[in-house]
Amino acid sequence: MKELLEKPGFLAPSGTLGADVSYLLALIFTVLFLIAWGFAKKAQGTRHHNLILISMVSMVVYFCAYYYARQLGVLSFEGEEGFGGSREAYDNIFIPVLTTHLILVTLGLVLSFYMLVQGFRASEKINGDFVLKTGNLAVRAKTFKTVMLSILVVWGLNQLFLTAVRHASIGASIAWALIFGTVALVVSLEKLIEKGLPDGARRHRILGRVTMIIYGLILCTSTATYLMLYVIYPMK
Ligand code: HEM
Repeated sequence: MKELLEKPGFLAPSGTLGADVSYLLALIFTVLFLIAWGFAKKAQGTRHHNLILISMVSMVVYFCAYYYARQLGVLSFEGEEGFGGSREAYDNIFIPVLTTHLILVTLGLVLSFYMLVQGFRASEKINGDFVLKTGNLAVRAKTFKTVMLSILVVWGLNQLFLTAVRHASIGASIAWALIFGTVALVVSLEKLIEKGLPDGARRHRILGRVTMIIYGLILCTSTATYLMLYVIYPMK
């Protein structure tokens, strides 16, 4: 698989097949999300919901397959060896763009899951079409406690599996703890968000727009990273 991904690409002279396919898919997913935004703007709630679901499921499948295939060995994580520019360009341009990209991807991923759940909570089906419900939308104290407890239990079971069955490293346990910690943090943040934006429909529109803008920025930073690695500063 690794050999296949490292074969010459089709977008830029120095690009690899893995990088080109990954960039093209990132482009397709962003365009799908932006079309879904267009549906929402035209008040076509069901088409918006369907397209968001299809794009999210395919994006997650792709992410898992791609990172599994490359073992997170994205060139950029491997230090300077994939970058053909000067040390100054690497430190002052490449690394800041890549860091911004990774921060935006993390934020975008967290917001996607949040928005997906929020979308279902904030809307209802009227005559077969999804519409946003106006009015206060708050998690009940009991539901909040149950969700937090479930996160704790799933984390505990996963930790048990990691240590007893997979004999995983401490690094893996820390990584999982951070993932579960982030989920718990997002759930707790919901209480704060509810105070600032109590109306569920307004919350969905405002945070949805923020999420869509982040998707757009992710595409800009991934385009810049691709161009730097394979067009502007390719390996000699
Ligand atoms: C990643 C997930 C999602 C994002 C980023 C998102 C984003 C948005 C945005 C930006 C709008 C407002 C459009 C505008 O006025 O500018 C919107 C409206 C809407 N969304 Fe979502 N959404 C997501 C998921 C969902 C889901 C899962 C549902 C349904 C279960 C849903 C149902 C709706 C509905 C019904 C509207 C109102 C359309 C209208 O104005 O009639 N959304 N969404």
